[in-house]
Amino acid sequence: MFRKSALIASFIVHVLGFVGEAAWETVVIKFRQIALLSRTPRFPELDEPRNIVIIGASFAGYYAAQVIASKLPPNSPYRVVIIEPHSHFHFTWVLPRFCVVDQEQKAFIPYGPLLKGAPEGRVRWVRERVAKVNRNGVWLEKSREQIPYDFLVVATGSGAAAGLPSRVPVDTKEEGTALLQDMQHNIKQAQHLVVVGGGAAGVELATDVKHMYPGKFVTLVHSRKAVMHRFGPELQAAALQGLKDLGIETVLHERTASSNIVDGQITLQSGRRIRCDFLVNCTGQRATSGIMTELAPEAISPTGAIRVKPSLQIQDDKLSNVYACGDVADVGIDNPNARSALRQGMVVGFNIVRAATGGSPTKTYKPFWGECVIKLTLGLDKSIVHIGNGKTELWWRSKEKDISLDAAGAWNHLGVKPFQDDDGLEKQVE
Ligand SMILES: Cc1cc2nc3c(=O)[nH]c(=O)nc-3n(C[C@H](O)[C@H](O)[C@H](O)COP(=O)(O)OP(=O)(O)OC[C@H]3O[C@@H](n4cnc5c(N)ncnc54)[C@H](O)[C@@H]3O)c2cc1C
Ligand SMILES: *[C@@H]1O[C@H](CO)[C@@H](O)[C@H](O)[C@H]1NC(C)=O
Repeated sequence: MFRKSALIASFIVHVLGFVGEAAWETVVIKFRQIALLSRTPRFPELDEPRNIVIIGASFAGYYAAQVIASKLPPNSPYRVVIIEPHSHFHFTWVLPRFCVVDQEQKAFIPYGPLLKGAPEGRVRWVRERVAKVNRNGVWLEKSREQIPYDFLVVATGSGAAAGLPSRVPVDTKEEGTALLQDMQHNIKQAQHLVVVGGGAAGVELATDVKHMYPGKFVTLVHSRKAVMHRFGPELQAAALQGLKDLGIETVLHERTASSNIVDGQITLQSGRRIRCDFLVNCTGQRATSGIMTELAPEAISPTGAIRVKPSLQIQDDKLSNVYACGDVADVGIDNPNARSALRQGMVVGFNIVRAATGGSPTKTYKPFWGECVIKLTLGLDKSIVHIGNGKTELWWRSKEKDISLDAAGAWNHLGVKPFQDDDGLEKQVE
């Protein structure tokens, strides 16, 4: 009990610390702005603005953009160029749920409002994918345009080759909602469903399906000895119990031999066969660092994540103007998550504003276990909230009333009235 109280106390101290830190940084930047404004402009007049290029606008990149766009001094010669192929912000947390429940529109949050306060011309938004990066600039995939950068932020996150339920592998909201609807339809049609992968996405999807359609046979196949293996043993046991209570069969320490369904069956590596008329692949995600192989091959770790310094500059002293943040950055956490991605994005933002106003990028990101707090749903109306610091776990059960898992909260966070979408990226930015 004492250890649990200590965990709670330490959590509160950390959170208060972050709030104080953000407030302090705002003061520092304000002072720097005042100092710069009172001097004659130290930057020469330039025909072309200098670019701070941000690749990827999800939790890490979008918040980095917000900090930079709002905190650069008004007379700064820099502008922010955001390169992101998605028409909308993809809200990942709800994807397993919306593979089952028809609320798919809510997973796509309009871009723009977070950058509203920025001065005119400060932000350029490019709906494209970066194909390649080198020292001279970034190359866009379709238009082949080359965009030079003074600072570069790589916030390309992670991806699941299998797509849903971990990522939506298309760019427009129309295509994305269509994919989710197809998935809902396929799940509804199936009688024997096999879910592969017992991480959060697999556990949530399997329990949602069985809760919504108790008559279906649902089997969860996981290659490890426990589901939720990246978390503590207490959560692992509670998740397994949740699966059992709903009547899901969980097959541990087993892999599928192939993803092909043959004669209505799927074969595992042990030779065991399981009836299956639809398979949902919820296996792991990998850092999306491919575009960096030319510029910084040495900074890419075997997992694909980009090695960074505590300042989130990439681990290459020749490239001190290049930063990485979010899931794509190797910051030494077991469970990459949106909260740490967002905080890393802000650290990068603060560092670039400092560097772009003549200071040095001395803000650091220190991983904090409390950021890995997870709410794991176990069916449509139950969940477990869990935090752990690697030694002690703290968790409790909670009742879920909102079928869309507080998607509204995420919309509000991004400055958009839930669930209003006038489809206005172009209208809102530029
Ligand atoms: C099913 C699921 C549930 C989750 N639930 C939670 C949760 O409850 N709480 C939590 O904290 N975290 C949760 N997470 C984790 C969270 O989603 C990630 O940690 C977070 O999305 C990471 O944000 P990011 O900005 O680093 O990258 P991502 O969200 O991966 O986004 C990367 C962005 O970069 C863009 N991009 C990629 N390549 C290029 C390119 N070449 N050119 C231009 N743009 C590019 C992509 O289009 C994308 O918009 C969940 C994840 C999943 C899969
Ligand atoms: C799941 O997707 C991953 C990544 O694409 C792939 O390697 C794996 O074979 C797939 N598994 C199944 C059972 O389809």
